[in-house]
Amino acid sequence: MTAPAVASALRRGAARLRAAGAPSPDVDVRLLLRFAAGWTEADLVARLGDPLPGAAEQRFGRLVAARAERIPLQHLTGSVEFWGIHLEVGPEALIPRPDTEILVEVTLRALRGKPDIVRFADVGCGTGCVALALARSLPRSHVFAVDISAAALRLTARNVRRVGLSERVTLVRGDLLSGFASETLDFVVANLPYIPDTEFEGLEPEVRDHEPRLALAGGPDGLAPLRRLAPMAARTLAPGGRLAVEIGFGQQDSARKILAEAGLVGIAAAPDPAGIPRVLQAERQSRADRAAPMERRPMERRRPRRPKQHLRSLGQPLPTAPPCRPTVSRAAHGPCPPAAVAGQDTGAP
Ligand SMILES: C[S@@+](CC[C@H](N)C(=O)[O-])C[C@H]1O[C@@H](n2cnc3c(N)ncnc32)[C@H](O)[C@@H]1O
Repeated sequence: MTAPAVASALRRGAARLRAAGAPSPDVDVRLLLRFAAGWTEADLVARLGDPLPGAAEQRFGRLVAARAERIPLQHLTGSVEFWGIHLEVGPEALIPRPDTEILVEVTLRALRGKPDIVRFADVGCGTGCVALALARSLPRSHVFAVDISAAALRLTARNVRRVGLSERVTLVRGDLLSGFASETLDFVVANLPYIPDTEFEGLEPEVRDHEPRLALAGGPDGLAPLRRLAPMAARTLAPGGRLAVEIGFGQQDSARKILAEAGLVGIAAAPDPAGIPRVLQAERQSRADRAAPMERRPMERRRPRRPKQHLRSLGQPLPTAPPCRPTVSRAAHGPCPPAAVAGQDTGAP
């Protein structure tokens, strides 16, 4: 039997994915075929009329079958690009979403014109996408990449090594900021789970069945993790330090209230391209401001347009101690105690 031409393999693969309900069959088969054959898009276009080489044909067939089972495309290719950085992805951690780049943008904007030595915590680091984007963009920063999941942290560790930022990214296994001492951080960023539990079952199979529930489900209203994080951030941030968090559709008002109740000030929202408030930022009052309060201007205020659909970035998507007191220079903070570092089993998931 002669091998099918590339174009007809693409057509048949797309038909199979369409029948399985996959959301973007034509794009997916092109990417899978390129991945199977090791081709660029230009190679693919140039060979549409050629027979598909035997080894690539078999690999492509297996990939299409797996995608028809609604395994995420990124799990099949094993990587994703975030903030221009190629990251390994897998079932251990959330696949980074493009919307989360807004969290990085907002953070970098807030630091514009400020001294570029910053102690960050990226809480719920997953693949390490946000931690790595910040560490790479701010060459004098130090980032503590925190996650409660040992499996996620092992993936973070591989990505940190891959990007060559081990010197400035410290992995911390812990429950939110529970292991950090008071006033030791300049900036806390977090993309914590925010899907309401009741909506979890209605998520696309790619998300519901193949991404970790621990990365997605955020309690009855999706805001349980933020409710715990906000007071911890208010305690661990140095005066004048900031918190930036990703939120879901319809959560702005409740999330603002949570931040305000934790004593954070200057709360402001940044929208995603659909106009939905996606990131909230707040500040721990500086000592001077506490003594003489002054009016603050929100970071950004744009009237959100009503979304056409129920967009939600995530859904479409032990107390252990890091216990190294985070400080600016690596020499100053020294190595973390073993329980805080990825790969050490402290009994959490
Ligand atoms: C929505 S994912 C975000 C991953 C990554 N930051 C990103 O933006 O792609 C949330 C992450 O928070 C972690 N997480 C959930 N609860 C946590 C907790 N109590 N303390 C620390 N991390 C937690 C999950 O394991 C998961 O990796």
